[in-house]
Amino acid sequence: MTRVVTRKYMYQRNSGAGMGTVRWCVYLVVLSAMVAADLVNDCVLVGGEQKSAIDQAVLAKLAPLKNKRFEIEIQEDTGTYTYTFVVCGKVLTNGSTNEGLLQTKKPASTTEKENNIVIGRINETHVINGTDWILLSYRGGDKYDNHCGSEPRKAMIMISCNKNTLADGFMAIKEERSKSNECFYLFEMDSSVACPPEESHLSVGSILLIVFVVLIAVYLIGGFLYQRFVVGAKGMEQFPNITFWQEFGNLVADGCDFTCRSRPRSTDTTYRGVGDDQLGEEPEERDDHLLPM
Ligand SMILES: *[C@@H]1O[C@H](CO)[C@@H](O)[C@H](O)[C@H]1NC(C)=O
Ligand SMILES: *[C@@H]1O[C@H](CO)[C@@H](O)[C@H](O)[C@H]1NC(C)=O
Repeated sequence: MTRVVTRKYMYQRNSGAGMGTVRWCVYLVVLSAMVAADLVNDCVLVGGEQKSAIDQAVLAKLAPLKNKRFEIEIQEDTGTYTYTFVVCGKVLTNGSTNEGLLQTKKPASTTEKENNIVIGRINETHVINGTDWILLSYRGGDKYDNHCGSEPRKAMIMISCNKNTLADGFMAIKEERSKSNECFYLFEMDSSVACPPEESHLSVGSILLIVFVVLIAVYLIGGFLYQRFVVGAKGMEQFPNITFWQEFGNLVADGCDFTCRSRPRSTDTTYRGVGDDQLGEEPEERDDHLLPM
């Protein structure tokens, strides 16, 4: 056994196969990290050259939602508006203005043209998170005409933890534009990405229990195979260490007898009396009938 292991190890060392595997693993890890980073790269965080590691970690949480598209239609006095939100992606396929959240006014008549207004752009993304929510905001939207000091529009999307869905319930909450600045459009949605990381539900006790059950299974199956194919046992003999376990069973029974019985055995026998003997004979008779010969 030892010799085989040693030779294998020598082989790996000599041929350099071990090192090669390690290098490939490193390549794979780096590659997948690059892919993951690329997934959210389209969202450019505000805050200048110096990037916050936490902001980027929060953004990375949104990776499963990347390029997912959500729509909500809202009826207002001035018309019907559709808000389209794409997570770190552009709304329009031919879009070149980084529009991440777009308002589309439905034409009231056939002569009127569809009117798009960019609420927020993905190249001006901001993220904040708490224990069970992520607030994603897109800034740098089209400027207000005369509200809010003609500042650029801004979209805020509040993503709340919901374990049961990857992304659902996209809703427009309100448009705040009665102030002279710092106006915003507020949206909300549910997603499991906003949930706190789940801790393992397995306690030490249950892990030990699982290990114990697995060990018993390995013992039973391994012992069975050994008894059957190596020793050549048949029937009950195939169980591993059958004599030991039978002996053990007897010991346990004795122990139980000793500890659990409240009445001495002798009184038990007298108590059973005649009826028991009859009962004992009956099944024997029945058995005889069942015998094939
Ligand atoms: C974001 O993109 C828009 C449209 O392409 C551009 O006008 C704006 O300057 C960009 N913002 C930043 C901060 O680069
Ligand atoms: C926000 O997200 C980061 C990155 O995933 C995480 O480390 C941090 O604990 C989160 N903040 C809260 C308050 O949960």
